[in-house]
Amino acid sequence: MNNKFLPYGKQSIDDEDIEEVIKVLKSDWLTTGPKVSEFEEKFCRYIGCKYGVAVNSGTSALDIAVASLGIKKGSEIITTPFTFAATANCILYNNLKPVFADIKKDTYNINPDEIKKKITSKTKVIIYVDYAGQPCDISEIKKIADENNLYLIEDAAHACGAEYKGKKVGDFADLTEFSFHPVKHITTGEGGMVTTDNEELYGKLKLLRNHGIDRDAATRFGKDASYAYDMKLLGRNYRITDFQCALGTSQLKKLDEFIKKREQIVKMYNEGFENICEVTIPYVKTNIKHAWHIYTILLDEKINRDKFFNSMKAKNIGVNVHYIPIYKFSYYKEKFNFNDKDFPVTENVFSRIITLPLFQEMKDEDAYDVINAVKNTINEFS
Ligand SMILES: Cc1ncc(COP(=O)(O)O)c(C=O)c1O
Repeated sequence: MNNKFLPYGKQSIDDEDIEEVIKVLKSDWLTTGPKVSEFEEKFCRYIGCKYGVAVNSGTSALDIAVASLGIKKGSEIITTPFTFAATANCILYNNLKPVFADIKKDTYNINPDEIKKKITSKTKVIIYVDYAGQPCDISEIKKIADENNLYLIEDAAHACGAEYKGKKVGDFADLTEFSFHPVKHITTGEGGMVTTDNEELYGKLKLLRNHGIDRDAATRFGKDASYAYDMKLLGRNYRITDFQCALGTSQLKKLDEFIKKREQIVKMYNEGFENICEVTIPYVKTNIKHAWHIYTILLDEKINRDKFFNSMKAKNIGVNVHYIPIYKFSYYKEKFNFNDKDFPVTENVFSRIITLPLFQEMKDEDAYDVINAVKNTINEFS
């Protein structure tokens, strides 16, 4: 058994990152300063999109992405139930109704055929999530959106650096959200970004980040600045600090290398599980580059996932379950009366899935420990 607990995800911070943060702490600008726009510009250059608005979390990014569309109260947004709560909560923050469409058996991403079944005259937006870092069927989803005059938001919290048909995600939907939480590919502690090519939406996002006020600190507090400003929208304070953005810019330089390291661990896992019939490894489509935020296996139906989970934890392996479907949460059940039976694929996948540790600093020995723990745990069941 492993002597030390192996977490399922963890950040990588080096001396260069720390130096960059210290420089900002010694400077005049702690927030809304030059490091924020530098991070936004460099991130957009990496993605290949026009505009980026950095905020204090991926959740905030989703909230202002939805808010920027100015959709009428009570309208519907279709999304996947197999995601983190934030994906659907942003719909509720904006007084809109979440409608869930079941997922695909192979990628666990939202199923375009199920989206079509859920469209009504009230549907205004589709939010699709690139589960685990694998882009959705973006062309199919875009076609549905075009035919029905719907906005698209891509929740790419898992997919920083992922590609679809040779192009980075972050420039396909009207708005794309990223997260820089420590378990993600690159981190700012907490943080997020919305990217878009739409100039009008970009303007609204910047207002929404800063209380809806039309002037930022740089133009409000200088020697020649006037006190006056207007509040044009009901915004929030979702500003991110300059020291966080300095960390983000420094991390961004290493993103491709981080993904490569993740790919190496994934290769070891795939080979390690090749001959275990009780384990299904992740399916990867051919027209994408996977960003490998998480690595999940699907257990055979005769293995009790929860017992498997506890047994892995007892072996010091930090397994996890991504995700408890959102319609199962009491808050959603009470408000919307969802029925689990309406989501048969999500139900089946949820009952069998387990997330194994995956982060860039994992050593080969760590991956072998995980593979052996999976094999030994399966033997305990047979
Ligand atoms: C799919 C998805 N969307 C949104 C978020 C929210 O990001 P954050 O934790 O930065 O608020 C997460 C966080 O894990 C996520 O997994």
